[in-house]
Amino acid sequence: MASLAGKVALITGASSGIGAATAILFAKHGAKLSLTGRNLDNLNKTKKECLKVNSDHQKIHLLQGDLFYSTEFKLCTRPSTLPGVIVTELQRRGGLDAEAYTKFLEHSRKTHALGRTGQPIEVARVIAFLASSDSSFITGATIPVDGGRHAMCPY
Ligand SMILES: NC(=O)c1ccc[n+]([C@@H]2O[C@H](COP(=O)([O-])OP(=O)(O)OC[C@H]3O[C@@H](n4cnc5c(N)ncnc54)[C@H](OP(=O)(O)O)[C@@H]3O)[C@@H](O)[C@H]2O)c1
Repeated sequence: MASLAGKVALITGASSGIGAATAILFAKHGAKLSLTGRNLDNLNKTKKECLKVNSDHQKIHLLQGDLFYSTEFKLCTRPSTLPGVIVTELQRRGGLDAEAYTKFLEHSRKTHALGRTGQPIEVARVIAFLASSDSSFITGATIPVDGGRHAMCPY
């Protein structure tokens, strides 16, 4: 994949899940990073992992705080990803207890054509590709990164 050196990436939700995996991969490919999240301990953990793959301290800036969604931030001409069920903290934070989450993951295997749920790094790799010059002729597209869930009949 083309290098991300010279690019500056603002990665929201970098303290967990897909955002954290994306931050680490972007660091590996040489991007300058501004990482946001609310949990400073977890943001620092992400930074530590970034530094393991790229030891340049100057390139990682942490921004702790609560972000509010604004439609003005939506850049519809940019490509984006549409993840399937990815194993992160998301569903647990949404209120599923351990048993319900296990059941949800079991059920999710049946709703994804590949017969499994995804990992954050699998989404991060597509995001890194879309942010690189390798995706130079892709615009306004939403790329499913969902193990074929979009092709399954919902049930
Ligand atoms: N996981 C999936 O199955 C899935 C599927 C489709 C789409 N997505 C989308 O992918 C994105 C990332 O999800 P994830 O699965 O990686 O979830 P996650 O592990 O729960 O991580 C969510 C991240 O967002 C941050 N965050 C949440 N609310 C925030 C706020 N108000 N202000 C600032 N930061 C905030 C959290 O920060 P703190 O931890 O520091 O609070 C955390 O870093 C979400 O938009 C989610 O809807 C996920």
